[in-house]
Amino acid sequence: MLEKMGEFFDARLEGYEEHQLTCIASAEAFYPFTAALLPRGTGVHILDLGCGTGLELGYYFALAPHAAVTGIDLAPGMLAALREKFPDRDLTLIRGSYFDVPFPEARFDAAVSVESLHHFTQAEKATLYRKLHRALKPGGYFILTDYFAPSEADEIFYRRELARLKAEQGITDGAFYHYDTPLTVAHETEALLEAGFASVELLGRWGDTCTLRAAK
Ligand SMILES: C[S@@+](CC[C@H](N)C(=O)[O-])C[C@H]1O[C@@H](n2cnc3c(N)ncnc32)[C@H](O)[C@@H]1O
Repeated sequence: MLEKMGEFFDARLEGYEEHQLTCIASAEAFYPFTAALLPRGTGVHILDLGCGTGLELGYYFALAPHAAVTGIDLAPGMLAALREKFPDRDLTLIRGSYFDVPFPEARFDAAVSVESLHHFTQAEKATLYRKLHRALKPGGYFILTDYFAPSEADEIFYRRELARLKAEQGITDGAFYHYDTPLTVAHETEALLEAGFASVELLGRWGDTCTLRAAK
């Protein structure tokens, strides 16, 4: 049965971090790798899309304890766990969808997203990435570490499967349901460039997980 996105993650809160770190190949490598790519200077402000319980932020705060981080997530339980983990850090947490939450203009030195955006289509991401581009300061950048489709055929297969499951379960409400529908790296790159990012580099690959850096 498909479950609504936020409810899916909150229902699995217990054991979530252990699952991420032990069941996703090379997670113990790509979380610190991602965190180390974020800026660390005085007064840096980072936006985290789909921050969850903040696995990437744990590694980041170890390097940049004074950074200000704004995290957006649909799941209230995940956000409560994140707040509890880092009571002394400069964290602003917003419960909502990053598609709907307005972003301030030119506010962030960098943005990050880990294992969250592989649930959405290229068309859905087009609007989000334009908003994200505007939210970054000049010289800012976006670090995306996520699960990518190994081929276009896989991308199409997962998207069709989601449509089939929704039809089978009579889901017509337009809400986000948890089902992995990753894009290929080529399509993700296209979405970022079309949104106005000047360049997109592939910085790391661990199986189907990749890290991209999109520069404003
Ligand atoms: C697999 S978890 C990753 C959390 C964290 N970044 C990590 O790597 O541990 C995916 C997170 O993305 C959140 N999420 C999914 N779609 C979202 C959306 N449209 N807006 C905000 N958060 C979303 C989920 O609620 C969940 O907490």
